[in-house]
Amino acid sequence: MSGSFVLRRICGAGLAAGFAAATSIHGSTLPMARSEPKKSTYLVTGASSGLGLELVKQLAARGDTVYAACRTSAGSRSGEDALSKVGGNVVVVTGVDVTDDAVGETLKAALHDVQLDCIVHNAGGFVTPRDQQTLGTVSMTSMRLGFELNTLSVLRVAQALAPQLAAPGGKHVIISSMAGSIADNGSGGMYAYRTSKAAVNMVSKSMANDLKKDGVAVCAISPGFVATHFGKGSPEKKAKYGAKPVEPSVRGIVEAIDALTLENSGSFVHTNYGNGLKPAPW
Ligand SMILES: NC(=O)c1ccc[n+]([C@@H]2O[C@H](COP(=O)([O-])OP(=O)(O)OC[C@H]3O[C@@H](n4cnc5c(N)ncnc54)[C@H](OP(=O)(O)O)[C@@H]3O)[C@@H](O)[C@H]2O)c1
Repeated sequence: MSGSFVLRRICGAGLAAGFAAATSIHGSTLPMARSEPKKSTYLVTGASSGLGLELVKQLAARGDTVYAACRTSAGSRSGEDALSKVGGNVVVVTGVDVTDDAVGETLKAALHDVQLDCIVHNAGGFVTPRDQQTLGTVSMTSMRLGFELNTLSVLRVAQALAPQLAAPGGKHVIISSMAGSIADNGSGGMYAYRTSKAAVNMVSKSMANDLKKDGVAVCAISPGFVATHFGKGSPEKKAKYGAKPVEPSVRGIVEAIDALTLENSGSFVHTNYGNGLKPAPW
């Protein structure tokens, strides 16, 4: 779909949460100020479910303004509309399908002249079940869908909103996966998912190089195995297989967003379920 969007402001004052301390990306310890962080304006894609939904909640709770972009405010897997109930300065932008080449037009029409401090490229997915992504079974349609959803999506959104991202000072945060790590691939398979996330890692690195001169920082994030609607099965079932809870995992993502600077731009970071950031192998 293209060109259609709905804006809905959900009113209410956000809770300001002072936080910070010291954190590290790629081994270097980054001192963080103890003062309350400046309020910022975020765009989060894939905000209807899982990590994206919780990210909207946590950012809004500390007083940031969040443009929560989604196809529909109800998650396609859960069927629930939890996004509309999030308090704080949240603007829900529906009709945002990141696989649509016209998504940039939809976003630009919805955001008008809003200046963004950070774009979190979170929308993504496994595309087809694991047993349909083996060397013997993966279809070219699944491969293309993987690239559309997990790789080209980031370029579409980044290109369209480039004039609206603060420069200097803006950030692109790309939710990637350890499955996209070539160094970490010890088990093969998952062709559509792995290759599309490996490709978005390269997009991330090139964007970091290209945007440094403009003062815009970029990083790719591996959130680890988190109990969301991602892939097959319910969050509860995934938790039984060792997936970690969403809330602390997203705290780790927020920590990585806050720690991203021009100095550590171009990193691939494992957000480690809120237990301290660590470098992820490319
Ligand atoms: N959970 C994990 O273990 C894990 C591990 C590594 C990486 N990740 C990454 O984390 C990100 C978030 O996933 P999640 O775990 O939160 O899964 P999730 O609960 O399934 O959420 C995925 C989100 O992406 C949205 N989305 C899917 N296709 C879209 C499209 N064409 N256009 C716009 N939005 C679309 C979904 O919207 P609908 O509700 O409309 O479908 C949903 O909001 C993904 O990039 C995923 O690859 C997750």
